[in-house]
Amino acid sequence: MAALALETVMLAVCVLAPAARALDNGLALTPAMGWLHWERFMCNTDCNAEPDNCISENLYMQMADAMAKDGWKEAGYEYVCIDDCWPSASRDAQGRLQADPKRFPGGMKKLADYVHSRGLKLGIYADVGTKTCAGYPGSFGYYDLDAKTFADWGVDLLKFDGCNMPKWTLLAEGYINMSKALNNTGRSIFYSCEWPLYEWQYTQPNYTAIRQYCNHWRNYADVYDAWTSVTGILDWTAEHQDLIVPAAGPGGWNDPDMLVLGNFGLSLDQQMTQMALWAIMAAPLLMSNDLRNIDPKSKALLQNRDVIAINQDPLGKQGRRTAKVNNFEVWERPLSGGKLAVAIINRQEIGGPRFFPITLAMLPSWKFCNPECNVTQILPSYQEMGIQKLLSTTNVQVNPTGTALLVVTPSTLDPRLHEKWLYFHRDNKANSIL
Ligand code: GLA
Repeated sequence: MAALALETVMLAVCVLAPAARALDNGLALTPAMGWLHWERFMCNTDCNAEPDNCISENLYMQMADAMAKDGWKEAGYEYVCIDDCWPSASRDAQGRLQADPKRFPGGMKKLADYVHSRGLKLGIYADVGTKTCAGYPGSFGYYDLDAKTFADWGVDLLKFDGCNMPKWTLLAEGYINMSKALNNTGRSIFYSCEWPLYEWQYTQPNYTAIRQYCNHWRNYADVYDAWTSVTGILDWTAEHQDLIVPAAGPGGWNDPDMLVLGNFGLSLDQQMTQMALWAIMAAPLLMSNDLRNIDPKSKALLQNRDVIAINQDPLGKQGRRTAKVNNFEVWERPLSGGKLAVAIINRQEIGGPRFFPITLAMLPSWKFCNPECNVTQILPSYQEMGIQKLLSTTNVQVNPTGTALLVVTPSTLDPRLHEKWLYFHRDNKANSIL
């Protein structure tokens, strides 16, 4: 009796307690959606040789046009983001950062106005250290001035990189000072950090502090256009989930880096895996691809409303890997309304499609299908799988390196059981609750 009472109190405390304090700038209630130039366009500054693909105002104007006219905006993609290599090699006479005059002849304010006129927001890039990763002027010693400059231009998001810090022990202070500087401008500026990524080389980052000052934070290496890059990010995330998942919630999110769908390196199945798992991980959906010329299948996946709804779910809980069985991985994310999103990845890279049996034994969340659940498959194709019973077995077919993404809705929502699941889910004990 006493044990039961204690358990009830613990549950109430854990379930009702909000996630650690988030950066209080009213932004990132759900992960940001938009486009970021780095993975696809990198530091291409040669506008003579490649006028359409160099880092210039034209590139962002054209992406903004595409985002506004090809359904991206309606799907929720909002930020058009500049990465490294936009500035002049030196600051102006007043010490301000300035855009390269040849590549940005109109200047940043005009570019921000253009992006805003399309109903979108502009993101920019800077670095906490003395130089950016590509060697352009860094913000070290200029946090207040740079924040003010970005606000004056009408910038809406800052990606703040972590290269070239004189001493790594200054990283936390630098990131915190820029957060305060942005707040002091009075303009709402989304703050995307790489603070933990650079600290991991020396120490385990303090995620409570990071969440308090950043809206997104990169933890792990840069994404590139390859399946091994996507799996590397997933493996790292699963290995560190006990530490990083509790840090995510409305106001601040783990950032596993850009979506590379629509480029060259991922098969369609692998693109589905990236999209599904970025939804499970409550990741920012920042595409890095060429929206002026994108494969229709990639476009449809990126604009899939059911996947986006999982990513943007208002409950704001990041999912986690809950099982590894027979070269399949199961990842689950609790959703609002007592629903669950379930991703089943086929990690076997040989052979053909394989069947994953959904049973009590194989799928941790199946315990909630008591007496039954309604199951909808979202990927690889939309399919109502109907009512499934606790003791029934249904097979889902998954291609090599592909993912089946399901939404599972328990027919009777036992609120106590659901709360319990959320609680145990947080501590990665979802398997042991019944
Ligand atoms: C780092 C970041 C990348 C990108 C480059 C730009 O590597 O992690 O996302 O911004 O710098 O130089």
